[in-house]
Amino acid sequence: MSDINNYANNDFNKDEEERIKELEKLYSKKAIEYANYPRNIGRMNDPDGGAAIKGLCGDTMEIYFILDDGRVSDIKFFTDGCGATLACGSSATELAKGKTIDEMLTISPKDVLNDLGKIPEPHIHCAILSVMTVHKAVAYYLLKKNAG
Ligand code: FES
Repeated sequence: MSDINNYANNDFNKDEEERIKELEKLYSKKAIEYANYPRNIGRMNDPDGGAAIKGLCGDTMEIYFILDDGRVSDIKFFTDGCGATLACGSSATELAKGKTIDEMLTISPKDVLNDLGKIPEPHIHCAILSVMTVHKAVAYYLLKKNAG
């Protein structure tokens, strides 16, 4: 299988055009773009909500967000996972921007898959991991808010 991470890397054996065509059979242009140039990547020191989940594949996703007037004003993700995970983290965080807590809970893995357009079936779990982590970050926020 082609490696989505190396899309922008010129150090390869195959003819570049052929390699890109191979990748585009498996991934949408948006997924390739997000894998190579992830949106909202990073961590936060003092988020309103934040969580990490280690997925079944062994990769970890972290999500952090800040609320302003009840809506997500800033959100970051971090992962040690593959290019598809970078694409899914980018999409999940883009989808969460501007949303309320309730609205964040309506984001589904299907929303991430629809937003990206196309990723191969063996990487659908990356979309699930990214959304599970958003929801866990919301749970952390609600626990913290209602703790005192
Ligand atoms: Fe592990 Fe993508 S392969 S989360």
